[in-house]
Order: sequence, then C-alpha cells, then structure tokens
Amino acid sequence: MLQHDVIIVGGGLAGSRAALEIKKQNPNIDVGLVAKTHPIRSHSVAAQGGIAASLKNVDPEDSWEAHAFDTVKGSDYLADQDAVEILTKEAPEVIIQLEHMGVLFSRLEDGRISQRAFGGHSHKRTCYAADKTGHAILHELVNNLRRNNVKIYDEWYVMELIFEENQAKGLVMYHIETGKLEVVRAKAVMFATGGYGRVFNTTSNDYASTGDGLAMTAAVGLPLEDMEFVQFHPTGLFPVGVLISEAVRGEGAYLRNSDGDRFMEKYAPKQMELAPRDITSRAITLEIRAGRGIKPDGSAGGNFVHLDLTHMGKEKIMSRVPFCWEEAERLVGVDAVVEPMPVRPTAHYSMGGIPVNTDGRVRKNGTELTEGFFAAGECACVSVHGANRLGSNSLLECIVFGRRTGMKIAEYVGGDRPFPNIEPQAYLDQAQTRIDQLLQQTGKTRLHDLKQRFQDTMSEHCSVFRTDEIMAAGIEQIQNLKAEYDNIFLDDKATHWNTELIEAMELQSILKVGEAILTSAYHREESRGAHSREDFPVRNDQEYLGHTLSFCSDEGVTIEYMPVVINRFEPKERKY
Ligand code: FUM
Repeated sequence: MLQHDVIIVGGGLAGSRAALEIKKQNPNIDVGLVAKTHPIRSHSVAAQGGIAASLKNVDPEDSWEAHAFDTVKGSDYLADQDAVEILTKEAPEVIIQLEHMGVLFSRLEDGRISQRAFGGHSHKRTCYAADKTGHAILHELVNNLRRNNVKIYDEWYVMELIFEENQAKGLVMYHIETGKLEVVRAKAVMFATGGYGRVFNTTSNDYASTGDGLAMTAAVGLPLEDMEFVQFHPTGLFPVGVLISEAVRGEGAYLRNSDGDRFMEKYAPKQMELAPRDITSRAITLEIRAGRGIKPDGSAGGNFVHLDLTHMGKEKIMSRVPFCWEEAERLVGVDAVVEPMPVRPTAHYSMGGIPVNTDGRVRKNGTELTEGFFAAGECACVSVHGANRLGSNSLLECIVFGRRTGMKIAEYVGGDRPFPNIEPQAYLDQAQTRIDQLLQQTGKTRLHDLKQRFQDTMSEHCSVFRTDEIMAAGIEQIQNLKAEYDNIFLDDKATHWNTELIEAMELQSILKVGEAILTSAYHREESRGAHSREDFPVRNDQEYLGHTLSFCSDEGVTIEYMPVVINRFEPKERKY
C-alpha cells in the first residue's frame, strides 16, 4: 500500500496551489498529487479571459467591497457572504504572489499588471495574460510542484474514495499505462477534480471534465450542493461549443441578431454585452427562439447569433484575444478581423459541488463536517458563486481557496496525527472486479451510443430554460439510461492503456452527476441565477433562499436545504 501524509486528486489550479501551500507551511509534509492527465493538461489550462482582483491598477475607484457586492449580486444572493469576503479580500495578495512565482501577466505601459472589463463586474478588475490566463498560471504552479518535491502520479485514474467512519482515509487508483491498481492511504485527502461539462452534449470543457470527484463523493453517501446551478457560457463557438472568451466582449465586441441589432439593449440596457452570463445566455436563447438567430448562409431563423469584433481592429484583436481569433479561424474558418463569429450558449461551469466550509473541510450534511476530507476549486461548493458565477472569479476561487485549504491541511496533518488504518485487499479486489466486469460484459449497447443519448437528454431536459414537465421526462429517461449501463460492451479488451475502459468509468460518473443536477433542478420551484424555470419565473426568497443538498443512493436522489450566509448585503432585485 502507498502512503502520503496528504493525497490530492487533481493537478489544476486548486490542487497545485494547495500542494504548494502545504509544502510552504511545512516542507516535511509528504504530499502526493494524482491526476488522470498530466497536470499541465488539467482543464485550468484552458481558462482564457482572466482572474479578478481589486488591484486598482486601471480603476482606482475599485475596492474589495465593490468586488464582493458584484459577486453576491451576480450570484442572485445565493453566495455565502463570509466566503465571498475571503475571496475578494485576499484576491490582490494572491495575484501578487502569482506574479512573484513568475506568472507572465499582460502589462500596462508602466509595467503594472493590466486589468480589463468582465461581465457583471462594476470596475475593470480582471487581470489577464492575453486570452491564455489559465495556461500562464498553471505552467508556473506545476513547475513549482516539481521544485517543491510534490510526488506526482500523472495518468492515474482514481476509482474510489476510501471513506469509513466519517473519515476519508485514502484512494483506490488505477495506473492507465500499466493497468496496475494501488491503494494509497493518507491523513488527509483533498479533491480538486474540476467540473463536469461532459454531462452535456455541447460544452467548453475538455474530455476529462466528467465530475469523477463529485461522483466518488456521492458514492460514499455524502451530499452534493447546489447542483441545479449549471453555468451556460453565452459565447460557445457554434457548432463545436468551445469557449470564445468573455474577454472578447470585455475588449469591446458586440452581440448581434439576424437583424444586425445589438439585442442586449433589451435585456440589460446598462451593462449590454457585459451583463452576467445567466442573463446573456437567456437573451441569446430567446433571440434564437424568436426567429432572430442566424443560419450559416446568413439568413434569419438559425441556431446562433453573431459576436462581432470587426470594429475592434486587427491590432487589438491580435494582442488581446489572439487565441479566440485562432479558434474561430481554425475550427469554423471565420476570420474575426473581417467577419463575425457564430456563437451560442455552451455548458461551461458548475456553481455547485462538494459542500465545504471556508477552510475547505467537506461537510457531512447541513451541520456536521467529515474528518480528513477537503476539497477546493470547481469540484467544491464553498459557495462563492451561488446561483451564477461572474467571469474571472473561478480562477480566483481556485487560487484563494486552494491556498487556504492547503494551509488548513498543513495544520490538520501537522503534529503527530497518525495514519488511518485501512484493509487494502478488499478495496483492490472490488476495483479489480469492477474492471473485469466492464471488460467481460457481453451486452449489446455501445458505450458511445449510451453516452451520447445521456448527454442529449441532459442538454434537452436541463438547459438554459427548464420546466417541471421537461425535467420530469428527463429524470425518467435517465433512469432508463442508467439501467442500460450494465448492458454496454467494450471493443477494447486490453488490461492496460485502455482509454475505452476509462471512458466507461467516466460514464458512470456523469450518469450520477447528471441525475443529481436534474433532481435538484426539478425540486427548486423558482428562478434564480442560472436556474431559470419557465413555470416559476420569479425568484422566491421566502421558500428557496437556501442551498440544496442532494444525497444520491441506489434508490434515487433525496433533497434537503441548508441556510445561506447573509451578513453584509440583503437580497434585492437584480438589475443590469
Ligand atoms: O470567458 C472566459 O474567458 C471565461 C472565464 C471564466 O469562466 O471565468
């Protein structure tokens, strides 16, 4: 059996930042970090537009309080305000630390870090590295992991969280290259496993974003929080769904419908294209529904709208958003210097996740904590984003709460905390049986076919707009699809380097996560942030100003609610 004082699952921004902080607090703590890709390929690398902090480099009027207010208002008042205070107060300091680590931010003429406008933010406070901000930050963090002797297990797929007597004790993990199974025990386990965009058929997320951490957490009987709040980014490149950064609008691009109108004037007259994402995605969807979407031949009635950069000029486009220009050119043959990009909403981000307190400790339920189990980043729900996240607050959450969770873990395992006792053989046998069964199954359903039908179901039944009827039908369809899982067969029977086997296990994750999303959404009979019910179009603070906790079991999903922390900003109507 392997052992580390701390084992972290996930090599993106939150996991890497936490690992570095633990080492900074105490270099003698033995930290392992396991990821199913190489850490440099974690989805954080794809983050484009930037990271928010009230540095005041461009806008001296900014403050952490203004950032906190924008975040809470953006969240439709579902964010926990104690967590938002930590996020926004610590933001400037963590950015300077990143700069000192060597992150290459874009600069102002005078050499200070540049800052741009972003949706829902009242000041220019988003720091950036052109439109490759995640790339710039992740590379520095991962370089530092090696320098600080963090043991990296890359391309290991974590199959199970070992959780006994309310304590996380370790993991069961599978080496993709060799097919070897290992149990690793640890005094503290941290999940930083990212999001679940692959639950949907169109997403900005990479192929690895399959919600494995959430599924493993749910599998041991722990709740997931606020799963109904799925962010659809307004500008996914049509038809592929990859991200065209909000930075493009932050730098001045327009959204236009088939009449050529800047339709955001109707939906958010003050903020226009820089309204929060929930509002902008709904606006685009309504324009398309009203027949003012655009077809590939340019006529009305199609499935996308235009993102128009043509007035911005080549120099600005190439210096501020070169990657977005390249994506459109490479993937759909559009030269955005001279013609508009086709865009529509794409599944982008999970506001919900594994419930944690502000120290990153995972909750057992609404009142109690678990032992030895921590989480941060997109897989966690702390909750700083509530019902709708503002762009450029997610990288910030990873860094602020990655660092903070790292500090708390160092405290937790410090001193003479003993290793937990585990009987590894039973876990290894169980994992081997799961693999053997998948390899030997002789069913009739193709893995990819089942996955596609599931993703289509989620996209049709739990998208930007929702109703009771549509979601009820979706829940029923998912039950049927789950039942088909035992009937899948794999073409690849290899016992090592078998990516189809990994996909089969990931399918189990997205099935579980999808059911939690749909069921949580079905039970919340109001519209709040990204959860927009056509049958309950109004926010209902009387009954639903609370966090959803969904508990998954073989019998289905049960729902409870937990209070929101409101200590600074009283809920009021959101207007932009
Ligand atoms: O649009 C973007 O660049 C995405 C940023 C974010 O999700 O924070």
